Amino acid sequence: MQNFLVEPSRPALKTEISVPGDKSISHRAVMLGSIADGLSVIHHFLPGEDCLATINAMRDMGVSIEGPFDNNEVRVHGVGKYGLKNPQSILQLGNSGTSMRLLAGLLAGHGVTAILEGDESLMSRPMKRVIDPLIYMGAQISCHEDGCAPILIQRPKQRLSGLQFQSEVPSAQVKSAILLAGLYADGETSVTEPILTRDHTERMLTSFGYPIIREENTTRLMGGGRLTGTEIYVPGDISSAAFFLVGAAMTPGVELLIKEVGVNPARMGILSILWEMGAHITVENMRMFNNEPIADLRVQGAQLKGITIPTAQIPLAIDEFPAIFIAAASASGVTTLRGAKELRLKESDRIMAMATGLTTLGIAAEPLDDGIVIHGGNVKGGKVDSFGDHRIAMAFAIAGFISSEPILIENCQAVATSFPGFVEIAKQTGLDMSIEDK
Ligand code: S3P
Repeated sequence: MQNFLVEPSRPALKTEISVPGDKSISHRAVMLGSIADGLSVIHHFLPGEDCLATINAMRDMGVSIEGPFDNNEVRVHGVGKYGLKNPQSILQLGNSGTSMRLLAGLLAGHGVTAILEGDESLMSRPMKRVIDPLIYMGAQISCHEDGCAPILIQRPKQRLSGLQFQSEVPSAQVKSAILLAGLYADGETSVTEPILTRDHTERMLTSFGYPIIREENTTRLMGGGRLTGTEIYVPGDISSAAFFLVGAAMTPGVELLIKEVGVNPARMGILSILWEMGAHITVENMRMFNNEPIADLRVQGAQLKGITIPTAQIPLAIDEFPAIFIAAASASGVTTLRGAKELRLKESDRIMAMATGLTTLGIAAEPLDDGIVIHGGNVKGGKVDSFGDHRIAMAFAIAGFISSEPILIENCQAVATSFPGFVEIAKQTGLDMSIEDK
């Protein structure tokens, strides 16, 4: 087990950092590159355990993938749309929900037989949300009777049928699974979402030369086309940047520049919420790479204020709430979040995990069925559990910028799933922290 020990820290006054590549985009680049014709070269790939699980799964199905090299380049020798082979063993996807849900869709119509499993956390997350619509398309796919993995996928009896799917949960993983299955289906597949979620699959399909049509919250594609190998530059992950955005935003006197971060509009909730809390953050030097916007983010620390988080921002900041709750702890007044039940279904129950840890640190945090109420105050020290969730561990680490005593965070090894090098970058920003291996 790995613990983080964080001392009350004085942030560096002026720093410039960059963060590793975007997790969502790295997964998709490997998956689409694998079923494309020809070579795809991925730059600034995230070498985190989750994305390595996707690489290993594609290798197990016969795709030759070189890297990740030291410069985070990955070379995927695409086998074409129907070129995957039956894996020799169970596909082990570790902690990675994106690998499991997107692969379920990608493999549903392909014709391979595969079993998908993961670690204890992943094996307790809901999978029926992807399996039910895939069955509707004609997939031979099933999971355990409790609705969780293992997932068994077999060759469908006939080609999948296109589906016009109205999703109830705003979920980019569900949307992506159905669109990826739609590549193998007869006719048109469309997904309409209640609110637009991250659209990296849609943008990347375009980069691989696959035609799609987008109208407001609906995406349509026709099955039967092919993908052409391409070159992808992965922007810095705004979900990783979020910890340092919050760290700097809540400490007056600090200036931090985070270079080359992905600023896809469906990922901008963290900025909108922090702006509403009174943060000074500017988006500079915006440009496009592979249909994805990328920018430098400049933060000037300030005293934040509590807010009621707008429901419309929830899907746009879905992974950033652990960090946002630390901003709320530092803020004057009360922050309220409702309508965010999905947070209970992430790598851990993030409402329970954050409410428990914040309470230990002396902050009044009341968990609600679908949210939390946090009263800003003085963060003390103590021992908190990350529940094996990477984002809970990193959120409590940045609390070191506002705490008056040391914080011991237990069970932090999962940070490597999304943010290798977190501790080094945290130290660059002034966080006084160390790792204890038990
Ligand atoms: C992701 C979608 C989100 C997010 C996850 C990555 C993706 O999950 O929480 O970390 O890459 O599509 P949901 O689709 O369950 O909201």
